Amino acid sequence: MISEALNRRITRVGSGEPAGEVLRRYWHPAALIDELEGERPVVAVKLLGEALVLFRDEQNELALIGRHCPHRGADLCYGRLENNGLRCPFHGWHFNRDGQCVEQPGEPEGSRTHEKIKTASYPVVEKNGIVFAYMGPGEPPEFPNFDCFRAPESHSFAFKGLWQCNWLQAMEIGIDPAHASFLHRFLQDEDPSDGYGKQFRDKSENTELPMTQLLREYPRPEIRVEETDYGMKLTALRHLDNGMTHVRVTNQIFPGAICIPMSREMTITQWHVPIDDHSC
Ligand code: FES
Ligand SMILES: [Fe+2]
Repeated sequence: MISEALNRRITRVGSGEPAGEVLRRYWHPAALIDELEGERPVVAVKLLGEALVLFRDEQNELALIGRHCPHRGADLCYGRLENNGLRCPFHGWHFNRDGQCVEQPGEPEGSRTHEKIKTASYPVVEKNGIVFAYMGPGEPPEFPNFDCFRAPESHSFAFKGLWQCNWLQAMEIGIDPAHASFLHRFLQDEDPSDGYGKQFRDKSENTELPMTQLLREYPRPEIRVEETDYGMKLTALRHLDNGMTHVRVTNQIFPGAICIPMSREMTITQWHVPIDDHSC
């Protein structure tokens, strides 16, 4: 059991927190492209404890800026999407894609006060249906070259879910090979040839053994962990009664991504994105 102080140190993700500063050196998924569909491509985003707003402007460019107007804190998600930026619904200050205030309609003609007003803004890129943001200092690192980003659209899809826990709890489960024998247990086996895209419905490589049966009958994997340049490689070995060993490899890519096999042909790359800055 780790101490409360260490738990806090590795799970608090706000700006200025030690883990928050490390995580800010990496790209994180901010939203699905699908969320920007429709007449008004403006969505609220919470990432690393920061309230942000993501929008697509008239030039088809994406922007991610602070959600609360630096004037009186009005919510820019309700702003007017115009002139390649967002105009605050309260007093009409206009912010461009860089978060720079470019207009303050209530100020005297010719006023240049707006030049000193800037809200947060972060670089974003679109990859295979996901908008990623970089919230750290300086130039963003190179974008990770995972299989799922190289795969054509016909062979990949993006989805997201909300887990009410901290990012480390989510990742611990992602790399835990033992729970699959219970949480993902099926009491009956289906025809594996009908299992494409279904979790654990395929058969194990080079055997006729459905994964569902294998997980059910061998709940005690031998787990080996290797540190690698990119994070960790976890190998779960299930020693079968016929002398064969079933091998399942999960890669953990620092800081928060995992790549897990779902069948002989399919993997899931799962990114544990910290939303709120809390430790439990
Ligand atoms: S609160 Fe946004 S312009 Fe006043
Ligand atoms: Fe699971």
